[in-house]
Amino acid sequence: MAIFASSLLVGPTARASEAVERGAPLYAEHCASCHGKDLEGAPNWRRIGPDGLYPAPPHDETGHTWHHGDRLLFDYTKLGGEVALDMRGVTDFESGMPGFTEVLTDIEIHDILAFIMSTWPDAVRRHQEQITRQEASSRQHE
Ligand code: HEC
Repeated sequence: MAIFASSLLVGPTARASEAVERGAPLYAEHCASCHGKDLEGAPNWRRIGPDGLYPAPPHDETGHTWHHGDRLLFDYTKLGGEVALDMRGVTDFESGMPGFTEVLTDIEIHDILAFIMSTWPDAVRRHQEQITRQEASSRQHE
């Protein structure tokens, strides 16, 4: 019985680490050009650029990716910043984040996000998991 229980624990962890392994090269190919190869973000990402848009923020713990729940991060990547915010009633923000619907499958997006999250310290990861739980329960009331 003990063996059975521990093999149950290994399952999801192994699957998660496979997602991270698939996500890392996909991140390098599709996201690093704007968000930085070490997830460090564009230079001066806190200031609006000459094009009137915010540059790409870091995806490491110095940015604010971890201030958002899984659903928002997924929508942002799949649909692009403008559509993802529009769906949430924010209509006055012009976003430089393109949508990847035509480029990446849902699983690939999931894997890239798993890779990004794998770089966060435990405390940051726990905080983001908490936001994801709140996000999920607020959606139940929609
Ligand atoms: C052409 C440049 C570009 C590429 C390529 C790009 N992004 Fe972005 N991304 C941006 C910009 C600019 C922003 C900031 C504007 C905004 O938040 O709407 C952003 C914001 C985001 C955000 C919101 C972060 C936050 O804290 O609000 C997420 C999530 C995101 N990008 C994920 C990705 C992922 C994953 C990839 C690769 C699949 C990717 N981006 C590729 C330009 C890019």
